[in-house]
Amino acid sequence: MKTTIYISVLLLLIISSCRKGEITETDNLLYNEIINSEFTYSNFTPVIVKGLANSPRGWERLKFNNIANGALDENGRLPAGSTFPDGSIIVKEAYSDSNGVLIEYAIMKKDPTNKYAKKDWLWAEINANGTISYSVSYKGESCIHCHTKPENRDATRTFNLR
Ligand code: HEC
Repeated sequence: MKTTIYISVLLLLIISSCRKGEITETDNLLYNEIINSEFTYSNFTPVIVKGLANSPRGWERLKFNNIANGALDENGRLPAGSTFPDGSIIVKEAYSDSNGVLIEYAIMKKDPTNKYAKKDWLWAEINANGTISYSVSYKGESCIHCHTKPENRDATRTFNLR
């Protein structure tokens, strides 16, 4: 009986580790990075604002780590035709309403050589409590159809909307 349970658990573990889109060490490292790095809020979202166009979340605030921030011009915009350097992290904080209960972080990290990268970025969503809601291992399959339209800048959307 004990052996049967042991074998079943082992099989389950093996099956679930083969599934596409499992939570990875990279997800947890990314969460640590966004909690512990220095970020600057976008000029366009000095406060919580309503998401534009078909942004999947209602209320949001955008912030850049120092590497990403260094690529922006004096108006806080990525110049057309230029790209974010490796190591750039952009976080869209999603809120329940304009008064702000943080729900989750939508994250893009420029990491072209990472095995999970798509269009040079890692794509993830992490709940406010740190649990992973959309793993990098999905390689942005739910994200890139919106994020790679010709007018987008380096797969980001906000600069041609705001
Ligand atoms: C239905 C279209 C759509 C989908 C799907 C989508 N996004 Fe976005 N995303 C947007 C729009 C529109 C904005 C700009 C919102 C604004 O500025 O108000 C945006 C902005 C962002 C930003 C801020 C940087 C930027 O591009 O402006 C991040 C980070 C982001 N999304 C991550 C993700 C991730 C991760 C996924 C997949 C899990 C995803 N998005 C899926 C439409 C989408």
